[in-house]
Amino acid sequence: MQIPIDALSEAQASAELIELARLLEQADKAYYSEDAPIMSDADYDRHRQRHFAIETAFPQLRHKDSPSQRVGVRPSDGFGKIIHGEPMLSLDNAFTDEDVHEFSARIRRFLGLAAEIPLALTAEPKIDGLSLSLTYHQGHLVQAATRGDGRTGEDVTQNALCIEDIPHKLQGSGWPDEIEIRGEVYMSHADFAGLNDREAAAGRKTFANPRNAAAGSLRQLDAAITKARPLRFFAYAWGATTQDFASTQDEAVTAFANWGFSTNPLFSPHETLESVLQAYAKMNEVRADLGYDIDGVVYKVNRLDWQHRLGQVSRFPRWAMAHKFPAEKALTRLLDIDIQLGRTGSLTPVARLQPVTVGGVVVGNATLHNEDEIARLDVRIGDQVEIQRAGDVIPQILRVIDADRPDRPPPFEMPTHCPECGSAALREVGPDGREDVRRRCTGGLTCPAQAVERLKHFVSRKALDIDGLGSRQIESFYQKGVVRAPQHIFQLVERIRESQLPELAQWEGFGDVSADKLLRAIDARRIVPFARFLNGLGIRHVGQNTSDLLARHFVAWSVFWQAVETTSQSPQSDTALALMSIDGIGQAAVQALTQFASEPHNQDMLAALLNEVRVQDSAVPVATSPIAGKTLVFTGTLEQMSRDEAKARATALGAKVSGSVSGRTDLVIAGPGAGSKLKKAEILGVDVISEAEWIQMIDQIAG
Ligand code: IVH
Repeated sequence: MQIPIDALSEAQASAELIELARLLEQADKAYYSEDAPIMSDADYDRHRQRHFAIETAFPQLRHKDSPSQRVGVRPSDGFGKIIHGEPMLSLDNAFTDEDVHEFSARIRRFLGLAAEIPLALTAEPKIDGLSLSLTYHQGHLVQAATRGDGRTGEDVTQNALCIEDIPHKLQGSGWPDEIEIRGEVYMSHADFAGLNDREAAAGRKTFANPRNAAAGSLRQLDAAITKARPLRFFAYAWGATTQDFASTQDEAVTAFANWGFSTNPLFSPHETLESVLQAYAKMNEVRADLGYDIDGVVYKVNRLDWQHRLGQVSRFPRWAMAHKFPAEKALTRLLDIDIQLGRTGSLTPVARLQPVTVGGVVVGNATLHNEDEIARLDVRIGDQVEIQRAGDVIPQILRVIDADRPDRPPPFEMPTHCPECGSAALREVGPDGREDVRRRCTGGLTCPAQAVERLKHFVSRKALDIDGLGSRQIESFYQKGVVRAPQHIFQLVERIRESQLPELAQWEGFGDVSADKLLRAIDARRIVPFARFLNGLGIRHVGQNTSDLLARHFVAWSVFWQAVETTSQSPQSDTALALMSIDGIGQAAVQALTQFASEPHNQDMLAALLNEVRVQDSAVPVATSPIAGKTLVFTGTLEQMSRDEAKARATALGAKVSGSVSGRTDLVIAGPGAGSKLKKAEILGVDVISEAEWIQMIDQIAG
């Protein structure tokens, strides 16, 4: 529960300020630098307001790095830096009509305006994009910079030149010799949908909303990518200028339009506050039909001499304000909870709602994030719920309205098995003992929902590395049904024939030569190194490094897999303990391996795959192995590895293993309980070492 500000002790206020500053900083970084917001706009505003209110009540706790002193975040490293001629400011927010009345009253007081003197304001939509500052020298665009931290931005000149709405050369006349024109880069809903379709088709990550898509597209180090993305620009403000060119905001915007910029058609000047508030209501009404996102209305004092007198406080101009739209809310009923499966196996609960109109958009689904969120809301099927669309993020469920109704069903339970493939769906336990909020399907390659991504990984450069078989080909083979599992890659010709499809050389994108080349490349990987094979299976926590380590340790695939299977069947066995104590192999990896090995469909897939390929032992080049060509004998009990493993590792290092000691024996490895063989070795003067020395020796050789 939040403590009211006037009831906070100084210590509580200080602790909360630190926590809020941390949250806001994380959110800023995710939003501005990574284009991947971690909280809704409404939550962000709520935290920011609370932070500001506490700071106002406890001015002694204000810090020079406080979020209230910051605009956006520092520019990232990839771009050149540009210092703005004049800082790019932010806008203070109003949420209620009362806030707007206060804004007007403050200005009147500051300017000392008598009641009968009208205060003309302009109103225009607050575009939900990212701001850009364009420097024109003698009418030519010479520089474009993002806002960055307000003082220094990123040089995105090449990218800005790719945006159609931005003139390279100013038209008309009357422009100052040098001027910074400012405005908003944004993407329309239609262009956003098209871009996301293309991204999805190419197997790339899609964007969460048009603002992120615009930011991601503008902040591309390769301007060719920006050019391919449909960005737009509205001009609405200016920074440093060598000459005055207007006496009101209205005239300035008209001048921009005459110079060739797009300006917002909803921009309008008003003589009274009532008229301004009507403009706000009107914009809220047409908002859903504009075709691009706006999140409020910006009011500006129309007279520029007054703007000048009003100046700024910290990072906000006194002469402007953003009147935010309320988050749109509605009541509806939760019809069902579906489980959506991500491409990497995470299970996400999605609320299926009785369709309802929220802010002009029909909403039928809402995210429930994860099972902890469902428990927190205690939302159950059939409940009446309040939902909210804030910004343009996916709608959220805020609360249950009728939790006290009779015959309410029991709480929702997340499935413990994948709805697609039936494999166990687990919440991992981290090293800190806490459960991951997400539940994941353990089916990997055998789960249809994950298959395409997993197959792409299987053939990728770090795994099987099959030349000419990339994401595009895998998608097309998968879609036509010829490759649904990794073993199918090695049965490509037969599977194409069985499906009665034309032979590969006839397919679009292939010809005789490339089809032949691909089939040869596939055949060349019928013998595959241990580490690549293991990495290719895409088992969680068993990536390239772990695979390399395990391959070096076990040398032979069969020995390794035997150890995994034994561990999965008897987790207390010596083999299991040995597997868990390998340096560099964490518990998470062992758990994931044994889980994988215990699923029958994985066993079937592996058997089918091993029918097609042979996994090559990760032998050290024999020439560099000091035991190459030597004859070894193991005797007594080995405590740290099985006999089979010991033998496999010796063979992989080029040694021969014999069952009895003779004059031709070079080395005996003796464990506790060794008897006659050890005696014979001593009589014949053969070198004898312990198991520990043996392990040290092979580890050294294997590097
Ligand atoms: S005027 C000094 N007008 O909102 C005032 N800003 O929260 C400069 N924005 O950084 C800004 N639409 O990115 C202005 N019509 C509009 C706007 C607008 C969107 C953005 C802009 C600014 C942010 C402030």
